[in-house]
Amino acid sequence: MSQVTTIVEAALAVLGEGDAEKKAALSQSLAAVVTAQDLPVGPALLMPDRPARPSRPELRAPRHMPKRRKGGSAENRIALLHALAHIELNAVDLAWDAAGRFGPDMPRAFALDWIGVGADEGRHFQMLADRLVDLGSYYGALPAHDGLWQAAYDTREDLAGRLSVVPLVLEARALDVSPATIERLRGFGDDASADILDVIYKDEIGHVRVGAQWFFKIAEEQSCSAEELFDASLERFFSASPKGPFNVPARRQAGLPDSLYDRAQRA
Ligand SMILES: [Fe+2]
Ligand SMILES: [Fe+2]
Repeated sequence: MSQVTTIVEAALAVLGEGDAEKKAALSQSLAAVVTAQDLPVGPALLMPDRPARPSRPELRAPRHMPKRRKGGSAENRIALLHALAHIELNAVDLAWDAAGRFGPDMPRAFALDWIGVGADEGRHFQMLADRLVDLGSYYGALPAHDGLWQAAYDTREDLAGRLSVVPLVLEARALDVSPATIERLRGFGDDASADILDVIYKDEIGHVRVGAQWFFKIAEEQSCSAEELFDASLERFFSASPKGPFNVPARRQAGLPDSLYDRAQRA
């Protein structure tokens, strides 16, 4: 890892790491290397269609995943944290894929923004994986959902599509649902898990903001409104429009205008 000389090479190193803990650690250490050594984005290199993944968890089609229960037993809380850890590990790869794949055609600040996101996602994974161990489990102990990379694959050649689906729909959706999950965990007396989700929730507002800012720049360059570009991108890459109820204050904090995702708010 010390040999990387460009951001694109750093991205390939993270995406190519199959071990979950090592991937999360590498995401954070390479983000620090890029900043400390002021590495350039570098020329484009072939990015993998799918990132390397550990042999466990077993990946299953969403319809074959066990149904999650909402009660406060340790088993249910472990299942929730395991699912979230899996999402964070995917988010590590998504952030570095954005930097490595689209970075060479964008200002360097674009790649730097996504590397910062990648470092956060690595830390999020680590916090959840450690908490699973506290609860007597570990990441890899349960099956995990294998649909998460599909959106990345589908949008591999379309940055507006990638930003629409990943930060502006999926990560924004996490802002909608997180406060209730955090409250539920507090209600079960699991403040340690709730505190971790609260850290993640606040960081994710920043991730949506990064996505929104670059999305607006692209819309401006294409001389269309953000709403038009968002609708066209979702029509192509996402089979539905965003569904509420929306966490409007968090979405506003992330710089998302109400009119972007809520058609009822369109003038
Ligand atoms: Fe995250
Ligand atoms: Fe994120």
